[in-house]
Amino acid sequence: MILIKGGRVMDPATNLDEEKDIVIDDKGKITGIYEPEEVQRNHYETVIDAAGEIVAPGFVDVHVHFRDPGLTHKEDIVTGSAAAAAGGYTTVICMANTKPPVDDVDIYKELQAREDKLPIHVLQTANVTKGMKGEELTSMEELHLAGVKGFTDDGVPIENAGLMREALKKCKELDVPISLHEEDGKLMYSQGVNKGTVSEQLGLPGAPDEAEYTLVARDLMLNKKIGAKLNIQHISSAVTVDLIRKAKKDGIRVYGEVTPQHLSATEDLVLEQGALARVNPPLRTEKDRQALLQGLKDGVIDMIATDHAPHSKEEKERGIAKAPSGMIGLETAFGLLMTYGVKEYGIPLMTVLRALTVNPAELYKLDAGKIYVGGPGDLVIFDPNREWVVSDAFVSKSTNSPFIGRKLCGKVTKTICNGKIVFTK
Ligand code: DOR
Repeated sequence: MILIKGGRVMDPATNLDEEKDIVIDDKGKITGIYEPEEVQRNHYETVIDAAGEIVAPGFVDVHVHFRDPGLTHKEDIVTGSAAAAAGGYTTVICMANTKPPVDDVDIYKELQAREDKLPIHVLQTANVTKGMKGEELTSMEELHLAGVKGFTDDGVPIENAGLMREALKKCKELDVPISLHEEDGKLMYSQGVNKGTVSEQLGLPGAPDEAEYTLVARDLMLNKKIGAKLNIQHISSAVTVDLIRKAKKDGIRVYGEVTPQHLSATEDLVLEQGALARVNPPLRTEKDRQALLQGLKDGVIDMIATDHAPHSKEEKERGIAKAPSGMIGLETAFGLLMTYGVKEYGIPLMTVLRALTVNPAELYKLDAGKIYVGGPGDLVIFDPNREWVVSDAFVSKSTNSPFIGRKLCGKVTKTICNGKIVFTK
């Protein structure tokens, strides 16, 4: 039995924001939410003193790359889930651009069997198209029957509109999210750096924002008659935010996702950090960043996802033109969000927490992201005011973060999953 005492409990599912004591039993379930002083601390084996801190539902990340199978020199499901726990996450959803990709039931089952033994909840998506080639759909029905809760070719946009329409229809029928990386290859000059002043300065052709928003526009229109759970991943451009705002007003079903890095940094970070700041879609302009922050603040963007994308030192040392795109994000996410989203831009903390908990959990129909009696003992405890400097001593196997050395405000101090303390600082 664990007693978490004296914390300010914030639960976006019910808008609870009060001092409460929470008890989790040995089966890992929340058995009581009490008024302060209602429970005696000496009745519990473990008492966590959360005075001065905030207790919230464990974070849910719908977008991580754990590189397992095939690329485990960058990360594997064990180190990835430890990094997630260190970031306050109790549930993560792995992308399927592994080697081989997760495009058949056998690969999926093998992974899921291993994932069931991890300290946090790790779910695996499967591919929309076979081999992520964008030519033929996977056996989505069969994969769904095997337990797959969502489909994605993240990393590789799906350019064939006819195939996309079929995929949307199938996902509607199965009532599962389809998560899309929206960058039309035919409109890209190069990857990972925004086409603009910085790409020009570096002599790179660049990734223009129209590559993102034209594909988003196509898929919103395709989904108009279908109504699938369409998840637009890692939105980077102001135009995309506007498109999603309008689509929602028009009753088109869509869920927007944004990363902490796109909320916190612009293309200028590439000048400072080189290949470490190379990411698909790229960090864009201050105008885009402001639009993303506003979209999160007013609820147009539903979810914050890290797109935790580990790469090795050697790969990132190939330089800006040749290094793979992506950055790790699980361990810096909360600090970036508190610093740039809550403190600098003034997004209410409850709104940020909603995008980190109940919204992603509801999209995937998970029993997660809320605090209730009988619910899972999955919680995060954090100090919203603790200042810290990002070091390269990550729990993740990789260190490819452009935020090393950055002073942030807001630190996760404990993560509890299934009633067990899985991270403590
Ligand atoms: O920059 C990226 N890297 N964007 C993606 O969508 C995929 C990711 C990766 O897998 O490295």
